[in-house]
Amino acid sequence: MDVTDQERHDTRLDRFVDSYAERTNGMRVSAVRALFAVANRPEIVSLAGGMPNIKDLPLDSIAASMAEMVATNGTQVMQYGSGQGELPIREQIVEVMSLEGITAHPDDIVITAGSQQGLDLVTRIFCDPGDVVLAESPSYVGALGTFLSYQTEVVHIASDADGIDPAALRETAARLRAEGKRIKFLYTIPNYNNPSGVTQPLERRREVLQVCESEGILVVEDNPYGLLSLDADPIPAMRSFDDNVIYLGSFSKTFAPGFRVGWVLAPHAVREKLVLAQESATLCPPVFSQFAISNYLSTQDWKGQIRVFKDMYRERRDTMLAALEEYMPEGSTWTHPAGGFFVWVTLPEGVDSQAMLPRGVDARVAFVPGPAFYADGGGARNVRLSYCFPTSDRIQLGVQRFAGVIRNELEVMSTFGVRVSPTKSRRAPGPGPDLS
Ligand SMILES: Cc1ncc(COP(=O)(O)O)c(C=O)c1O
Repeated sequence: MDVTDQERHDTRLDRFVDSYAERTNGMRVSAVRALFAVANRPEIVSLAGGMPNIKDLPLDSIAASMAEMVATNGTQVMQYGSGQGELPIREQIVEVMSLEGITAHPDDIVITAGSQQGLDLVTRIFCDPGDVVLAESPSYVGALGTFLSYQTEVVHIASDADGIDPAALRETAARLRAEGKRIKFLYTIPNYNNPSGVTQPLERRREVLQVCESEGILVVEDNPYGLLSLDADPIPAMRSFDDNVIYLGSFSKTFAPGFRVGWVLAPHAVREKLVLAQESATLCPPVFSQFAISNYLSTQDWKGQIRVFKDMYRERRDTMLAALEEYMPEGSTWTHPAGGFFVWVTLPEGVDSQAMLPRGVDARVAFVPGPAFYADGGGARNVRLSYCFPTSDRIQLGVQRFAGVIRNELEVMSTFGVRVSPTKSRRAPGPGPDLS
């Protein structure tokens, strides 16, 4: 029977609909991915995607040294490898992590296919259906997707301009325990959070770790942006004060995401479980990619390259912040990230980010509405803007258009005396940006 393309893509008549595992119900289409199709149209300024901007990599030099690697060592780099990952790169990762104050042993590192796979493996070995994962407000959409795909319950902890509120963490943990729930870990992005851009200061890191220690909560620290500090030296990682923290690292933002190489640093017993999980998932993480990254680290000026990236991102961040200052209507606030890729905007009272998106696309600007970064429907008044990819001119234009869309929403509201769309009632904002 001939099947048309349309029929092949029609999922309404899915004959396997009764066969899928229950966990697939928790799998959601990433709001960011769904946006990509529209956002990539040239007339649209996309402030939506968080793709690292790798245009400044020395491609010729990288190509030459990788060609040499294949010519001299091809049969090893194209072979299966260790489930834990190759030793040379694990040794180099120890050096990379030392830049953020971490002392580690290569034997406690497991290589993963990006830190995204690290999130998957950690959740796989710790979480049964119904277990609770605690997360900042807001939190990384890809992590929320992973937690939900393992049928966990994600509970957001109130956060302020310095990240997780330690008192709220303690109260939430006590309440959940009283309800008989099992908390498996706290997931946090202490540096330049995706999506909020917020950084936890040193003191706050210590406070959060103290609460977790006294409440017996494991901490999973996700740190792909740590070396992309744009103003000051990086703050020491949480893992640098506590060996029981599970730490996720990645080369996606400091080199290139296409290799899909990240890692997990974990206490020894956890590391053993992770290797078993990695073996059942992939046999071994991509060997060629590991050798390619190892080659990059040993033949190229990778620290100099990070400085190049930082100069570029700093200029773009500054352009975005200046444009927000210039164009945004009263009643809006936004974060001032000290690194990473993202600014988190809080819209004027009554404006709904999700409802505004089609109007944004109409006005030729794309952004990610806040609810993508909450597992509980929060974020209605928030938007994530990214400055990593567009040029400064485009950022300026994009923010101007974005602000115009908000002004239109406000105008409709004031003309008709109604909200453009209903928003959830929200708690009063605390000091600093409202990140609830
Ligand atoms: C906070 C955070 N964690 C993890 C990832 C996944 O990165 P990768 O799998 O490329 O290492 C991302 C990617 O954007 C991220 O922002």
